[in-house]
Amino acid sequence: MVKEDFPALQGNIVYLDSAATTQKPRQVIEAIKEYYERYNANVHRGIYELARISTEIYEEAHEKVARFIGAKPQEIIFVKNCTEALNLVAQLLSQLVEGSNIVSTLAEHHSNLLPWWKLSKERGMELRLAEPDADGVIPEERITDLVDEETAIVAFHHSSNVSGHILDPRKVSKAAKKAGAFTVLDAAQSVPHLPVDVRELGVDAIAFSAHKMLGPMGIGVLWMREELLSRMEPVLLGGGIVSSVDLDLSPVWKDPPQRFEAGTPNVAGAYGFSAAIDYLLSHGVEKILPEERKLARALTEGLKERGFKVLGRDHTSIVSFWREDLDPHLLAYKLGREGVCVRSGYHCAEPLHRHLGISGTVRASLYLYNDGEDVERFFEALDRVM
Ligand code: ALA
Repeated sequence: MVKEDFPALQGNIVYLDSAATTQKPRQVIEAIKEYYERYNANVHRGIYELARISTEIYEEAHEKVARFIGAKPQEIIFVKNCTEALNLVAQLLSQLVEGSNIVSTLAEHHSNLLPWWKLSKERGMELRLAEPDADGVIPEERITDLVDEETAIVAFHHSSNVSGHILDPRKVSKAAKKAGAFTVLDAAQSVPHLPVDVRELGVDAIAFSAHKMLGPMGIGVLWMREELLSRMEPVLLGGGIVSSVDLDLSPVWKDPPQRFEAGTPNVAGAYGFSAAIDYLLSHGVEKILPEERKLARALTEGLKERGFKVLGRDHTSIVSFWREDLDPHLLAYKLGREGVCVRSGYHCAEPLHRHLGISGTVRASLYLYNDGEDVERFFEALDRVM
């Protein structure tokens, strides 16, 4: 019984908001407590034993995350969250880009849209946005059709945070590579749910957050190919990123990842993140999505029977639904009063909703601790509310 490992899931709660953040197992909570009780010291600075242990913990977390996604430890940059990772990659790529357009999609989370909007404005580039089909899904060809010789960057999602639809990144990265464009993948909703190997995706960078995969808030990952990272200057300047600063300053940067991790990092977060990865590995990452699909199918069918429309078609861990005669916020509020936690509104993807002419959806999102009982209780609550 997975649920027993999650203190927040004891009691009467039906937690269906894991796309916003997942609950934490006892093992992660304990790890964070253990770090502050036993290992707390700054990293890459002190030479005393406690500082050495803390540094080791922080570096091991890079190694663990790297192994989890088939990367090298020096390619793992710890940041605050996925949003920061996407902003950082936009700022880093601005050092290398050539071309007159950036390609993204109307179905992106604002975090994978606004940084590209800003970069395109600053550089006088065109921002081309692929449009979703009637189901709210972006077929890969709609992205690749926009790519040409002048495309500098293609930024897109792996799994949509609204429809849960999973794209095949290889189809996009192949076309982008042919055109000489960099590819950036928002993997916030994929890395937590399915095995991801960055070398197989063919993209140049991916971003994701620990808190959406059982880890703590406040730590996320930018993975970028080493060969690109080694050519780039840091964006955030300060301590921990230089191997020397002379009297005339002229700093000499450390190698990645330290070059891009200025200031005191979230070491307790990294330790908790490691514990989350251990938990996922012992559960079996490959088991997560098939289980979620079964529950998502049951949710979709039950919702359709009750006259709701559901976004997307291949339902994975996310089911967003609406009915024109119902206010999504009121529905989510009333479900909340029944102990059912769902998100309502635009889910930080307003252009997608506007394009489809929908003034908001209610989103039920799943993770490895959800079960058939949650689905039953969701419908019991929904029927009472209706
Ligand atoms: N990005 C998170 C979501 O989609 C917060 O809910």
